[in-house]
Amino acid sequence: MNAIDLLKEDHKVVSNLFDQVRSTPDSKHFALFKKIKAELDTHAHIEETVFYPRLKKDGKQDLVDITLEGIEEHRQVKLFLTEMGRMRRGGDEFEAKLKVVMEDVEHHVEEEENEMFPLVEDQFSDAVLKRLGISLLNRKQKFVQANPDVAKNLANRPRMMKTGMLTSIYETAVTAVEGMLGMANGKNKGTASKTSSSAAGKGKAKAAKSSSNGSASAKKGASSRTANKNSKAPAAKGHSAGGRGRSASK
Ligand SMILES: [Fe+2]
Ligand SMILES: [Fe+2]
Repeated sequence: MNAIDLLKEDHKVVSNLFDQVRSTPDSKHFALFKKIKAELDTHAHIEETVFYPRLKKDGKQDLVDITLEGIEEHRQVKLFLTEMGRMRRGGDEFEAKLKVVMEDVEHHVEEEENEMFPLVEDQFSDAVLKRLGISLLNRKQKFVQANPDVAKNLANRPRMMKTGMLTSIYETAVTAVEGMLGMANGKNKGTASKTSSSAAGKGKAKAAKSSSNGSASAKKGASSRTANKNSKAPAAKGHSAGGRGRSASK
């Protein structure tokens, strides 16, 4: 399973949990939230420590920009998850936060699947994506092992644990094949030469993006961000973010 398939699978698990929230009474939501938090904590961790860094390192500027935006969206969601995690039970405030988190996550997933992932598939070779998938799986396993509370609530833990034992061998093989393919036809898009040639430009762009997208403005600048997103993602499915004037994400 390559990186994109793995991340999309995670998205489906979370989407199913959201469906359960919407089809059950409030009294069931706190228990569902524990599962949602475990899934999102894990997914955000592997994206932020494995996937996003690779996109920032070897992606073109358009991909770097959308990755930085995704990191800010993660920050907002994690803030809510932390606050909700401190609550002992449901209630009106909890329900309000849960609704916001679900909308934010859904919007973020739309952006990843409709904008980010197509760019990734265009800019990275199949071999690199497979290797990234293995790295994501390894990181997921380590994160779950280090966080028993997450392990207890994670929906897809058994399959992940089974595959973990073979990953280092497979990763070595994939790396070797990737190297051969890269030398043979130059298809490997995540090459060192591309990275070094664009490194300076990326550094400047990151600084500019960071200043306009800083955490202090994460909430305040939501309306304009939402407008920007809508304008650059006309194909994205319509959802409720517009009414709130705030971005919604994974
Ligand atoms: Fe994601
Ligand atoms: Fe994400």
